[in-house]
Amino acid sequence: MKKERLLHEGKAKKVFLTEDANFVIQEFKDDATAFNNKKKGSIVNKGVVNNAISCKLFPYLQENGVPTHFVEKLSDRDMLCKYLDIIKIEVVVRNVAAGSLVRRYGFSEGAVLDDPIIELYLKDDDLDDPLMNEHHAIALGLASYSEIEILQAYAARINSLLKEFFAQRKLRLVDFKLEFGRHGEEILLGDEISPDTCRFWDLDTGEKMDKDRFRFDLGGVEDAYAEVRHRVLGED
Ligand code: TMP
Repeated sequence: MKKERLLHEGKAKKVFLTEDANFVIQEFKDDATAFNNKKKGSIVNKGVVNNAISCKLFPYLQENGVPTHFVEKLSDRDMLCKYLDIIKIEVVVRNVAAGSLVRRYGFSEGAVLDDPIIELYLKDDDLDDPLMNEHHAIALGLASYSEIEILQAYAARINSLLKEFFAQRKLRLVDFKLEFGRHGEEILLGDEISPDTCRFWDLDTGEKMDKDRFRFDLGGVEDAYAEVRHRVLGED
């Protein structure tokens, strides 16, 4: 399968159409943005690392009953995926208070949430991805109530699977963001799962191992991403 035409260029990836309308190729870039594009930069080799991590996690989820868009890893930066009509809802799952949960509601950073919190955000950069509930999503025509129930059920299942996966690799899964899309009659998990879209804290030291190092100029960004890849893939 080959890249035929650029379909969409996002902040971290390009999506290309292929000769078969059922498939696209996601190309992972090194570009990094934060706070909805207000901070811009680049993380050396990020595209390669995030593709490698995603290409391990999507099959793991797939094998455990979560349907995804993943087909195969084509190269260092390229992933072959099923074409998705993206649902403009970002689903965030939180196990530990961090980021906007702390800012918005006054939780202490690091507070453990007894039950995971699932949040919905409108995927719209011009509006700064506002937090919303299912009533907003339905009123906006983004999805039906039963589809939103499916997204939330998948999000909870993905959280259980990933929490366990990362704990075995000495990483605490603090929170993460998911995107879904429609492929024919099916709803599939799309996008990527990587240190760009998750918060990981080292289980022993609490050290931040994700894009927060870039967001808040903590240094050691490339090393943190490489370490997550190492733990996920179990390679050097
Ligand atoms: P937040 O605490 O900033 O709301 O982020 C929650 C999680 O979602 C965190 O793991 C980072 C991820 N995330 C994205 O992947 N894309 C985004 O645009 C935002 C705001 C967060």
